[in-house]
Amino acid sequence: MSLRRVESSARRRRSPWSLIGLVGLVLILAGCASNAPLDTFQPEGQEAQTIMDLVLPVFLVAAVVFVVVEGAIVFILWKFRSRKDDDPDEVPTQVHGNTRLEIGWTVLPAVILAPIAVLTVLTIFELEQRDDDALRVEVIGNQWWWEFRYDIEGNGEADIITATEMVVPAGRQIDLAITSNDVIHSFWIPRLNGKRDAVPGRTHTWSITADEPGYYWGQCTEFCGLSHAEMRMRVVALPPDEYEEWVQTQLQPAPAPQTASQARGQELFSQQCASCHRIDGLEAQPDPDDHPLVAGVGPDLTHFASRRAYAGGIFELYDPDTLQVRRGQLEAWLRDPVAEKPMAPDEGRGMPNLGLTEPQIDDLVDYLLSTADGPVWTGPRND
Ligand code: CUA
Repeated sequence: MSLRRVESSARRRRSPWSLIGLVGLVLILAGCASNAPLDTFQPEGQEAQTIMDLVLPVFLVAAVVFVVVEGAIVFILWKFRSRKDDDPDEVPTQVHGNTRLEIGWTVLPAVILAPIAVLTVLTIFELEQRDDDALRVEVIGNQWWWEFRYDIEGNGEADIITATEMVVPAGRQIDLAITSNDVIHSFWIPRLNGKRDAVPGRTHTWSITADEPGYYWGQCTEFCGLSHAEMRMRVVALPPDEYEEWVQTQLQPAPAPQTASQARGQELFSQQCASCHRIDGLEAQPDPDDHPLVAGVGPDLTHFASRRAYAGGIFELYDPDTLQVRRGQLEAWLRDPVAEKPMAPDEGRGMPNLGLTEPQIDDLVDYLLSTADGPVWTGPRND
C-alpha cells in the first residue's frame, strides 16, 4: 500500500469522529452562555424553585439509567462481537419467553417511574397553591404583545393597564389570570415559573414570585403568527415601597401637555391613534372603523414613557446604560411600523402605517415622552 493511500484511508476513518467531536463541542459551548436571560435553570422565585427541585432528581435518575443502559449496550456489543473463527450458521442462545427476565424489565421501570410520578403530581398541586396576600394580575395575549391589567381598588374594573412590562412587588406572589384576545399564545417567564397557554375564551390561572427586585425576561412560546418571535414580555420586580409608589403614579391620568408641540401631539393622538390605543383622561375622537383590529385594542399608552420597552418588547425606549431616550427608533416605529416589525395591519393584525408627516411624528413623540419622567425602575437589571 502506498503511503498516500494509507494517509487518505486514515483521514477517511477519522473524519466522522472529528465531526461528532465538533458537534459535541458546539453543544457544550452553547451551554456556557453567560448572558442567558431566558435560562430556566436559574430559578429566582418559589415556583421556579419548586420545579427545579423536581427536575434535578429526575435528571439524576435519568442520567444513571442512561449510563447503565448505554454501558450495557456497549459492553455487550464488544463482548459478543463476531470473530473470525465463529461458525456463521451458529444461532445464539435465545432468551425469548424467559419469564424471570421479562418480569424484571417490566417491574424495574415501574419501580423507577412510580416515585417520579408521585413527585410530579405533588409538584403540580404545589404550583396551584396561592398565598393569602397574592396580588392578582390579568394577563392577556394579543398579536403580538402582552397586556397586564390590575384591579387595585377591587371593584372588578382594571384601574392600571400596562403592556409588555408587568410591574410587581418583589417577594410577593402574583396570582395570574391568563387569557387571549385572538389566537393561542403561551406565557413564559423562565426564571419565575413554567409556561402556561393563553387561550381565547378561557382563563388559565398561574402564579409567579420574584424573590429579588430586577428584570425577568419572557417570550411567547406558542406559535401565533408573523411576529411570534417578536412577542416578548418582562417582569419588573420592584422593592415593595417602590411598587406602592408606582401604583400611585399609574393611578393618575396622563400628565397634561406642557409645550405647544406636546399639545399638537395630543390632538393628533386623539384623532389618529385613539381608535386602537387608549390614554387615560384623554377624550378620543376616533372613527372606530378606521383601523379595526382583530383583538379590538392596541396597548394602553397612559404612562407609556414609564416603560422601558415597546412594540412587543423588541425596542428599548431608553438606552440601558445611560437612560437616554432612543428617540430615533421611536420615530422610525411611528414612520413605518411594518418595516420595523413583521405585522399584517391590512388583516387587522398589528399597527398600520398612518402616513404621518415628519412634523407630526415629532409632535407625537414629544407627547408620548411627556407621559412620564423616565423609566420606572433604574436599579440593577440583573439580566
Ligand atoms: Cu404570541 Cu407566539
